[in-house]
Amino acid sequence: MMSTMTTMESEWRLAAHILLLSAAIGGITYLLRALRSFHLRQENRSPPPGGIGSWCRGFVGAETLSFLADNSSGRGFYHFVHTRALRYGACFRTSLFGRTHVFLLSAKARAAAACLLAADPPHFAKRYVRTVADLLGEHSLLCTSHDTHRRMRRAVAGLFASASTAAFAETFDRLTISQLLAAHFQDRVVVLDVALDVTFRAICEMLIGPQDDSQKLERLQSDVMDVTQAMLAVPLRLPGTRFYKGIQARKRIMDVLRQEISMRRQNSLKLDRRDDFLQTLLLKSHTDSPEEALTDEQILDNILTLIIAGQVTTATAITWMVKYLGDNTDLQEKLRSVQLDLASKHHGSPLSLQHLNIMDYAYKTVKESLRMATIVSWFPRVALKDCQVAGFRIKKDWIVNVDARSIHYDPTIYHNPTMFDPSRFNDDMKPYSFLVFGAGGRTCLGINLAKIMMLIFLHRLVTNFRWEMADHDTSLERWAMFPRLKNGCPICLTPIHKKKMY
Ligand code: HEM
Repeated sequence: MMSTMTTMESEWRLAAHILLLSAAIGGITYLLRALRSFHLRQENRSPPPGGIGSWCRGFVGAETLSFLADNSSGRGFYHFVHTRALRYGACFRTSLFGRTHVFLLSAKARAAAACLLAADPPHFAKRYVRTVADLLGEHSLLCTSHDTHRRMRRAVAGLFASASTAAFAETFDRLTISQLLAAHFQDRVVVLDVALDVTFRAICEMLIGPQDDSQKLERLQSDVMDVTQAMLAVPLRLPGTRFYKGIQARKRIMDVLRQEISMRRQNSLKLDRRDDFLQTLLLKSHTDSPEEALTDEQILDNILTLIIAGQVTTATAITWMVKYLGDNTDLQEKLRSVQLDLASKHHGSPLSLQHLNIMDYAYKTVKESLRMATIVSWFPRVALKDCQVAGFRIKKDWIVNVDARSIHYDPTIYHNPTMFDPSRFNDDMKPYSFLVFGAGGRTCLGINLAKIMMLIFLHRLVTNFRWEMADHDTSLERWAMFPRLKNGCPICLTPIHKKKMY
């Protein structure tokens, strides 16, 4: 009996000790946590809120799946950002493809743009998702690191001098006219198809010269499309997947370009009178010092980069511009009257840079279309060390995205931002409020070419046709790298002259 009581007593004592010990541990943990979060708040070092907090652990890849689900739906991938901004606010954290991403929106994005997109931002470097580097190549201007980038950009930027820009305007005008002549025989045209075709031909002619073999050009165009469509795909190198298709297409494009280079070398570069970008880069690679000269691999990756960075972006922007004017026929009429007046002064002659320079209202229409379309929705920059952004703690290797779309739709900057209104560009802009071509050391190299293409296409279309939308469906194309209409923007055309006027 005594021994049973002693055993019970000691069991009770043990239980009490365990209870006391757990309470003590619980209390201390609670205190430490409270102290830590107080400390973090004091030092403003807490990470941004978001969907990869402790409640979400275990759902590995849930955010990536959600991103892919939005991208494969008619809502488009920006829906992913929009819904999280509503939940967490203008700075949030998420996890995509195994990397932590932070998104900064509206005022926070503008404030951060000044330091993150600056010429040489300390502690930050540009970083696209791995798939983009795999498809464009490690030497691509869009993917290289700081030092290599500076040298490569110097080499490529020289190609965009005013002489080649003027020649490009002439080529683009010629190609646009031939496309629109064909449109005279159709009463319904899919703008995206026309714009993709004309931008592709013009950019290829500028980069690798005119191509006589139309089948070769068509194969190249279809391969470029496969590469573009693989950029946001799941990086599975399995036959049948979109990513695999893109990688195979890249290989074929590289083969075509390699053959072109070896053909030019056989014909002796210096005697060859071509003046396209490829020729200029090859000549430079012979004459420049070894530190400045570009290797064949660097040239190849960047020719592909220029096609992709220039074609799909501009064709998408042209398509949105035609849609906005199709939805706003009063503005279309206003623009038409201004442009017909200009056309009467250069009747019959090709459009030159001088003609484009005085298209003031058309230029505002181009800018307003670019603002509303925001072809590149955000700019990713990777943190090279632990730091602070917008008052939040950012860890090394996290990717911070400056969200341009939220700036372009911020009602404190653009009154009534969902309304298409070119005249809003009568006023001066606030700094970092118009980021369609980026800012700082990575600003788009093709700004002038993009403006030239958009102005020429707009002028030729508006002075020859009236148009309205043939289909009002606004759902977005699945898997597109840049947001664009699934239906490609079909329009009904009515020629405005009995005689063609070009
Ligand atoms: C409407 C058409 C276009 C838009 C909206 C556009 C937009 C942009 C943006 C936003 C960036 C910077 C991305 C960043 O900082 O992360 C960029 C970079 C670039 N763009 Fe464009 N672009 C267009 C047309 C073109 C054209 C026509 C070309 C050349 C043929 C071109 C070539 C490039 C290149 C090479 C870069 C990389 C620059 C660098 O990193 O140094 N773009 N573009």
